[in-house]
Amino acid sequence: MTTPEPPVPPAPLLPPAPAVPPAPAQPLRRRAFLRGATVGAAVGAGALAGAFAAAAEPGPGPSGRRIPFHGPHQAGITTPQQSAASFVAFDVIAPDRAALEDLFRTLTERTRVLTAGGPVPATDLASPPTDSATLGPVLPADGLTVTVSVGASLFGDRYGLAARKPARLVQMPVFPDDDLVNSKELHGDLSLQICADSRDTAMHALRDITRHTRGGMQPSWKADGFHAAPRPSGTPRNQLGFKDGIANPDVGNQAVADSVLWTHGGADGEPAWVEGGSYQVVRIIRMLVEFWDRVSLHEQERMIGRRRDSGAPLDGVKESDAPDYGADSQGLLTPMNAHIRLANPRTPESAGQRILRRGYNYDRGLDTDGNLDVGLIFCCYQQDVARQFQTVQQRLAGEPLVDYISPTGGGYFFTLPGVGSPADWFGSALFR
Ligand code: HEM
Repeated sequence: MTTPEPPVPPAPLLPPAPAVPPAPAQPLRRRAFLRGATVGAAVGAGALAGAFAAAAEPGPGPSGRRIPFHGPHQAGITTPQQSAASFVAFDVIAPDRAALEDLFRTLTERTRVLTAGGPVPATDLASPPTDSATLGPVLPADGLTVTVSVGASLFGDRYGLAARKPARLVQMPVFPDDDLVNSKELHGDLSLQICADSRDTAMHALRDITRHTRGGMQPSWKADGFHAAPRPSGTPRNQLGFKDGIANPDVGNQAVADSVLWTHGGADGEPAWVEGGSYQVVRIIRMLVEFWDRVSLHEQERMIGRRRDSGAPLDGVKESDAPDYGADSQGLLTPMNAHIRLANPRTPESAGQRILRRGYNYDRGLDTDGNLDVGLIFCCYQQDVARQFQTVQQRLAGEPLVDYISPTGGGYFFTLPGVGSPADWFGSALFR
């Protein structure tokens, strides 16, 4: 859901142009520049970021909704879903640990600046512009969040971080019915979930971040998603036509969040530095919509376990009604293998297995056969991947819905604790 934007104030006056712009002494050659992407040092990124620092604390963004950046947890997890998202995985190429730290500091600084919004620094005509200008001269805050997570592969020998690995961070396994053989969208050393109230704000943020982190990390795959408006009300729909995101744990309740969402340093074998983080699972799941559209509504609703129009459970009236499986132990109303019943049987044992889902629809045009390449970027956050996502995924194995979906990529990540203050930075506790 988006908040309407207040009008954008007039752009600040540009500095006067010099009478004769001086020519750059040594024009940058395009190919040499691109080659630099894989060999440059992340240190340069920090220096470039400095040029933006002056714009970092301009007060509230001049337009759009501003999501606070500082806090014990990162934004973008419990934040109400923005309408646009990019999930981007990266190979970290920082040459050593000092450069890796510099990369995290740069990521922090860029996220702080971009999510605050404000005027972009002026550019002198002889230099490459300080900003792409795709959002104009004043960056709208626009509900932007950039959520930073790391993959298991970052904790090998490369940076001497093996002993610091979050206890439950592993590479995503292959599940039955996964279609990952030719996948180019798997895993990653680092992942960004960039969400905003408009598509161009998310894209601008990614372009800015990749520019400032060249030499430190290199994008390896990216999936763009959208969160539709409610139709006609309540929870938005996925591309099977069903409301998706109705039943989530109430993480506004601190006790619930502490038991299913946040990781706790020093507990259950976790290192102290993970306090306030969370595990993120991303799965790219294609929907075979041409096939789905040939299934009767009755059968569709029994596969999901909810009414398509209202989102109500099959034994209820409204989407907010809770199904009562205890009163339907034979599955006469809600089949025992309905998606929602398998995913969350709502027993005392399954309470600790609940996950916070934060998925997005995707539309990537057509496949080579002319079928729609659409689906769900499934994303969820939890305290323990094995106890939660993986247990749910294993229960869903073989559900009737598997004939209509095809998981083609994704990864497991650990979402870093929040950045607590203007002096703090992503992962500071990891390196201490
Ligand atoms: C393309 C694949 C998927 C589709 C189309 C889909 C669709 C849905 C729909 C329509 C609902 C009911 C509305 C709601 O409560 O949000 C739902 C609920 C749910 N789904 Fe999925 N889902 C998919 C994949 C997954 C996966 C991979 C998982 C986890 C492994 C999962 C876990 C859940 C859970 C936990 C619920 C809430 C159940 C409850 O608490 O009642 N889903 N899903």
